[in-house]
Amino acid sequence: MTLRTVVRSALTLGLFGLTAFAAQAQETIKVGVIAAFSGPFADYGKQMEGGIKAYMKQHGDTVAGKKIELVIKDTTGPSPEIAKRLAQELVVRDKVDILAGFGLTPEALAVAPIAEQAKKPMIVMNAATSIITTKSNYIARVSMTLPQISGPMATWAVKNNIKRVVTLVADYGPGIDAETAFKTNLLGGGGQVIESIRVPLRNPEFAPFVQRIKDAKPEAVFVFVPAGEQGVAFMKSYRERGLAEAGIRVIATGDLTDDHVLPAMGDATLGVITSFHYSAAHDSPENKTFLKNFAAANPNGGRPNFMAVAAYDGMHAIYEVARKLNGKIDGDRAMAVLKGMKIPSPRGPLTIDAQTRDAVQTVYIRKVEKVNGELYNVEFDKFENMKDTGK
Ligand code: PHB
Repeated sequence: MTLRTVVRSALTLGLFGLTAFAAQAQETIKVGVIAAFSGPFADYGKQMEGGIKAYMKQHGDTVAGKKIELVIKDTTGPSPEIAKRLAQELVVRDKVDILAGFGLTPEALAVAPIAEQAKKPMIVMNAATSIITTKSNYIARVSMTLPQISGPMATWAVKNNIKRVVTLVADYGPGIDAETAFKTNLLGGGGQVIESIRVPLRNPEFAPFVQRIKDAKPEAVFVFVPAGEQGVAFMKSYRERGLAEAGIRVIATGDLTDDHVLPAMGDATLGVITSFHYSAAHDSPENKTFLKNFAAANPNGGRPNFMAVAAYDGMHAIYEVARKLNGKIDGDRAMAVLKGMKIPSPRGPLTIDAQTRDAVQTVYIRKVEKVNGELYNVEFDKFENMKDTGK
């Protein structure tokens, strides 16, 4: 072999290797999932992954001839720096086609500039501060916003003669949004917010705040805390300090009585009224199918909550994009497909608003009741076609 043939065959091999690699790369659509899978918000990532798995169990892992490949990353909590670094790695090293996940607002806000710069579609499966979708044209949100959910709660309250209210919210984006929208509609209906309390996002100690609520003697307390353990802790203080006996009712966004933790929250939650876009008790064929597939794909997953549903719907959106684009994901073309998309969600009708890229959906009023011996959020009233009102 002359040196020339050696060089030539090496080149051929190299080229062949590259072509083979390119062909292989085109056979998958990579979805980078960024969420908390450890720490106090670990449940967010697990619920989202559970919803994604449920969708893939039902519809298979291949769409438009491409295999859907998930690359899952743990932010460990509301850590914007970590979320940003993970997104950079996913885009630059893993070459993902789509970014998804985002349980917490600080994670979504930190990643928005990366989606914008890299022109990667970013599917927000929970983070619910109104402003998030304005931070990049590549964001589509399939979850909710706190103004969208909280306004109807106040409208319902004043109509039902609850007029003097104390608000208690987590002191960050979604909490401020909830407080503002609730207050606007309560005042608009002739009600009054007599005190507004904000509690820290991390490890709030509820007892002193709950005592302040009791001392203010409102007809009800309106609550937004991020889903999970904080709801359990708030309800524990509410019970221990005797607020129910003092005649103070709880009205809240459904984050408080999150379906995943509700079964363990106890009878103190009976009668709690919440507004929300999803209940595991929602009566529809789509929800039955979802619950069945969630259970099959997540044998120890417990009851799915709204984050699992948003992830399931987010996967529907991704599969739809892949089908419409024949498996070749391009950021701008993907966004054109997402805008105005209608999704047959387990929650009820869902549209991605063509202008704002936010979820347009029904907001239900629900009451915690026992159904076959288990606590559920039972829907009894609704506000249809609700958009975000926070921008
Ligand atoms: C958020 O950080 O945007 C967030 C987190 C948990 C919720 C709702 C919103 O339950």
